[in-house]
Amino acid sequence: MRLISIGGGPAGLYFALLMKKADPAHDVLVVERNRAEDTFGFGVVFSDATLEHFAEADRETYEAITRSFAHWDDIDIHYRGEVLTSTGHGFSGMSRQRLLDILQRRCAELGVRMQFQKEVTDLAAYADADLVLAADGVNSFIRSRYAEHFRPQVDWRPNKFVWLGTTFPFPAFTFIFKESEHGLWRVHAYRYNESMSTFILETTEPAWRNAGLDQADENQTLGFAERLFAEELQGHRLLTNRSLWRNFPTVKNGCWHHGNLVLVGDAAHTAHFSIGSGTKLAMEDAIALARALQRHGEADKALVAYEEERRPEVDSLQRAAQVSLEWFEQTERYFGRLEPIQFAMSLLTRSLRVTHDNLRLRDPRFVATVDRWFASQAERQTRFAVPAAPAPPPMFTPFRLRDLVLPNRVVVSPMCQYSAEDGAPNDWHLVHLGSRALGGAGLVITEMTDVSREGRISPGCSGMYKPEHVTAWKRIVDFVHATSPAKIGMQLAHAGRKGSTKKLWEGIDEPLPAGNWPIISASAIPYYPHSQVPTPMGRSDMDTVRDDFVRAARMAEEAGFDLLELHFAHGYLLASFLSPLTNTRADEYGGALVNRARYPLEVFDAVRAVWPARKPMSVRISATDWAEGGGTPDDAVELAKLLKAHGCDIVDVSAGQTVPDQKPVYGRLYQTPFADRIRHEAGIPTMTVGNIASWADVNSIIAAGRADLCVLARAHLYDPYWTRHAAYEQGYELPWPDQYVSVKGFTPRLP
Ligand SMILES: Cc1cc2nc3c(=O)[nH]c(=O)nc-3n(C[C@H](O)[C@H](O)[C@H](O)COP(=O)(O)OP(=O)(O)OC[C@H]3O[C@@H](n4cnc5c(N)ncnc54)[C@H](O)[C@@H]3O)c2cc1C
Ligand SMILES: Cc1cc2nc3c(=O)[nH]c(=O)nc-3n(C[C@H](O)[C@H](O)[C@H](O)COP(=O)(O)O)c2cc1C
Repeated sequence: MRLISIGGGPAGLYFALLMKKADPAHDVLVVERNRAEDTFGFGVVFSDATLEHFAEADRETYEAITRSFAHWDDIDIHYRGEVLTSTGHGFSGMSRQRLLDILQRRCAELGVRMQFQKEVTDLAAYADADLVLAADGVNSFIRSRYAEHFRPQVDWRPNKFVWLGTTFPFPAFTFIFKESEHGLWRVHAYRYNESMSTFILETTEPAWRNAGLDQADENQTLGFAERLFAEELQGHRLLTNRSLWRNFPTVKNGCWHHGNLVLVGDAAHTAHFSIGSGTKLAMEDAIALARALQRHGEADKALVAYEEERRPEVDSLQRAAQVSLEWFEQTERYFGRLEPIQFAMSLLTRSLRVTHDNLRLRDPRFVATVDRWFASQAERQTRFAVPAAPAPPPMFTPFRLRDLVLPNRVVVSPMCQYSAEDGAPNDWHLVHLGSRALGGAGLVITEMTDVSREGRISPGCSGMYKPEHVTAWKRIVDFVHATSPAKIGMQLAHAGRKGSTKKLWEGIDEPLPAGNWPIISASAIPYYPHSQVPTPMGRSDMDTVRDDFVRAARMAEEAGFDLLELHFAHGYLLASFLSPLTNTRADEYGGALVNRARYPLEVFDAVRAVWPARKPMSVRISATDWAEGGGTPDDAVELAKLLKAHGCDIVDVSAGQTVPDQKPVYGRLYQTPFADRIRHEAGIPTMTVGNIASWADVNSIIAAGRADLCVLARAHLYDPYWTRHAAYEQGYELPWPDQYVSVKGFTPRLP
């Protein structure tokens, strides 16, 4: 085969040597515009896990690479005059120049042809090659030239960074956070040989401009950074090497191959330097592509197989890189607000890939310190004794809202059961909620319970609008209180334009075939084009619905509920006022967010006035509509501030379900970043919900301060005893009801 790599970075060189090694008959050429000894940047980092792939692919380069490594286990975090250390992280750094030398030498040894100082501007000369690698890096001209086929998306991130070096051999992977009069600066520094370290300086664009660095040349940048970090550099110098301030581009492509062209490495995808995996991804691409070619013999099939194999891996890493880079873009949110140990925990678990549990395996002492600190905070917050040695896992610490103290941080999410008759809950609801309370959650929230018959989603929805409902709900509340330490909240709602529809399993949000009732909303916009058109609410409708909420709240108090949650989310009646997609009113209830929030807040105030002062109230919101022109996370922060000012105790942060053509970005913990943001920026406790399935995630979220409570829906359908099982797996004792004490002598056999 005739194989050409345009670009002699890690991706191009590694692919070339792997192919030549696989079959010396291949004609393999690498074309590189720089000289062999040129390089930009200083060191690169690999995690221990990456290296195993390299050992399998080519032992010679693997050994040469590992001989050149500076290895470390510790991460040092410099924060407000303290240095916190976490160990067990297993990373290696090496000079980028050294890596390229090794790859070039191995290419030469195997007979790869290399042309340096040749800038390729036209691919015509390579038209008859079996394969042309676009290994031409982040600014790939090949990707731009064939953009209509590759469909690149380049997301330029707002922060500014510059890649410097230093003669100070940092003893650990080091993050420095430092304030100057211009703003907050972040340093990512790591050693790449005995005497040298990479030193990446990052900040926000305003801080960068305030410091005049938009006008600075390399030397002025160097001088600025040396002065600011004189203490940390301990008299050592910084070094430049084409050290220009840049913005990081997150690169993705709709397709990775076209004809005989294939994208690899940074040309195909980038991963932010804060998770240090760009070189790893580039080299893993080379391995996958070389293997696919060997397996399939011909390029066409191999390219499809290569993309199929690599894309999920890259997508997953890019998702982790995205949350990590956002953490660094938003560090001001945490800086100064979090105590050092929690700041460190937030940093270490920022990509949501490293959990409290992984971290405990790596560094039990660090996690024990986090847990002890967290337990002491919980003790202070609840005024309940929490043991310090050993401290409970963070999820098993209590939490106070007004006079209500929850025994732990796990919440059963509201989940419609569509099993009530004219709003009345029955044995199904008793068993559903009762078993989840026995299952160990700290708080169980009822399904969306409607404040009037017309306010129901479906004919099977539960309600709180008839005297019989109080009796029926009280039976459930009493059961929960009598048999478990769990508390129970009621979610009150009105379905608005999503009302008069079918049960979940008969067709969610679809209008009833018969027996529809009239529906109301902020504006006369149907959910689906074929849905019933709602009547826009006039003032008398508003009074009626507000009074329905007040009546329902009084009934909930009579039934003995511990907490009330108002449903401002998912496109139901109160949410229909909040979203600009469903509220096009021209009166004082439409327009700017303060206007759109006016009626929902009026309802909140009226309910708060009758709900006992000792009992807390929560509001569930959609932090984004996931739709063009809809509510945004910025709006959610503003709404949370308003809620706080009106006496709301905690915001239950959900998202979407406002419009059917939403474009949600699903994934593990996909809504947690919204809860994190609201908690810090609005200064109100939050509950997070959405694809939380492991106790390790719950512990990490709680300990890092991303939310105060974790709300699980489907996980609790799957396993009513989710919290008990989490306790068992962590060796933590949760009291059993008397009827079940015998279980203490029983050891389950788990796979
Ligand atoms: C600040 C910073 C820190 C980083 N830190 C790390 C880290 O710690 N760990 C890590 O793994 N990764 C890190 N990376 C990422 C890493 O540098 C890249 O992901 C990696 O180099 C990608 O390899 P590549 O072969 O795809 O592209 P590159 O290494 O960019 O190589 C592309 C090559 O193509 C050549 N070229 C481009 N156009 C042409 C042309 N028209 N004709 C001929 N030649 C051409 C270029 O000269 C270059 O040599 C960092 C990146 C940055 C910006
Ligand atoms: C069967 C079912 C019914 C639901 N009913 C409600 C509800 O009544 N009120 C509400 O706010 N959310 C409701 N939701 C959304 C969940 O509370 C939760 O926000 C969502 O399922 C994401 O959490 P998960 O990934 O843990 O399932 C429901 C979800 C399911 C699966």
